[in-house]
Amino acid sequence: MSLNDQLRQLLGDEITEKQLLEKFSFEKVVGSGATAKVYIAYDYQEKREVAIKVFDKAMMIEQRKSIANDGYNSKDTAVQRARRRLKKIICEIDIAKRLDHDNIIKYLGGYETSHRICIVQELVDGTDLLQHILDEDKMGETTAAYVFEQLLRALEYCHSYNVWHRDLKLENVLISSSHQIKLIDFGLSERTEEFLKTVCGTPLYCAPELLFLNSNTRATGVHGGPADIWSAGVLLFALVTGCAPFDDSTFASLRQDVYRNAITYPETMSLGLQEFLRSIFVTDVRVRPSISELLAHPWLVQNVANYKIKMSPTAYVKPPRTVSVISDAETVEESNASCEDDDNGPEDVSYRDMLYDEMLDDELYLDDSPRDVKSPRAYYSPRKPSNQTSSKVQVNNTPLNCFAHLF
Ligand SMILES: Nc1ncnc2c1ncn2[C@@H]1O[C@H](COP(=O)(O)OP(=O)(O)OP(=O)(O)O)[C@@H](O)[C@H]1O
Ligand SMILES: [Mg+2]
Repeated sequence: MSLNDQLRQLLGDEITEKQLLEKFSFEKVVGSGATAKVYIAYDYQEKREVAIKVFDKAMMIEQRKSIANDGYNSKDTAVQRARRRLKKIICEIDIAKRLDHDNIIKYLGGYETSHRICIVQELVDGTDLLQHILDEDKMGETTAAYVFEQLLRALEYCHSYNVWHRDLKLENVLISSSHQIKLIDFGLSERTEEFLKTVCGTPLYCAPELLFLNSNTRATGVHGGPADIWSAGVLLFALVTGCAPFDDSTFASLRQDVYRNAITYPETMSLGLQEFLRSIFVTDVRVRPSISELLAHPWLVQNVANYKIKMSPTAYVKPPRTVSVISDAETVEESNASCEDDDNGPEDVSYRDMLYDEMLDDELYLDDSPRDVKSPRAYYSPRKPSNQTSSKVQVNNTPLNCFAHLF
């Protein structure tokens, strides 16, 4: 089936830009990623606010930054890139339509105009986890366990339908004021029973079996489940410490750290969480725990129970000093993890923001010379302020002819 037919099947007939603006009033941008902008919009028919992820067709044709392009010019033409991107959008919509889980963002509809492809979703009254820790500092272990359990439930659900998220990171999990989470952004996800043969995602979060995918291992591919679990582990580490577990200042240093499993766990981190994370950060995928094993892990079970006790309206009675309702881990909520600021100058934002969208052919060259044990790198630096004022979607009825032949 042609890409155009696939889109028609998912979204119905194309509508005009004017019709789009008769359905929705676009209010402001709440997020923008590599390929799309997300707006808060008012749905006139449903009389409620929604979130709309808008892909600008003209932008899709532009050369995208890609780690595979770093240092050499890709032979890919702009048309091939746009086609590949369009396939991913089709895949994202197809997956989003199928998923129905409390911890996954709900798909409400999709529209295509001459200039845009729009995915309408429920609006989460909150922020993504990165913004959350920027606003409120790193998360205590008890709350983090509650959040992480929800993330595992969302992943368990996805995996049961052979959907592999492939881009788990702080930015792709939304959190409400009551710490309910919603997994978003299935833009790099795949739904397949096969092993995965491409590298994608955000370098820092990539599992070793993907980071070291080479011409030999590519033939067999990688299981999407354990790779998502690794990324979830990186997310949890970053959430609780505010630091990245690996030095991702360059691609080489990242691969080196991952290869050596060179993780420094802050002293303030409970031994239970250290053990939990250590179990995730194993290179051998056969040894890496499954989601059900993680859900049964004492650190998670105990802290989730503690969270519920803490939040229960009837249980807010100060416990006697000798009875500890809240585990030691809770003290981490207030403490400062020993993460030093990056002392290597300004954050390499362009590298941080890159996504893999290509397979990498090269074997890793590993420098085995001894390195100093360093404190973890600070994970986040303040975001550049987004251009919130010029966020209105402009009506544009001029056909984008350059795009038509791609379908
Ligand atoms: N339903 C929503 N409610 C509130 N905020 C949202 C919602 N969806 C997305 N956002 C915000 O917008 C940001 C970008 O959204 P999303 O991750 O879906 O797009 P993206 O990263 O641009 O996608 P891609 O990686 O496919 O280019 C999120 O990190 C989040 O801050
Ligand atoms: Mg995203």
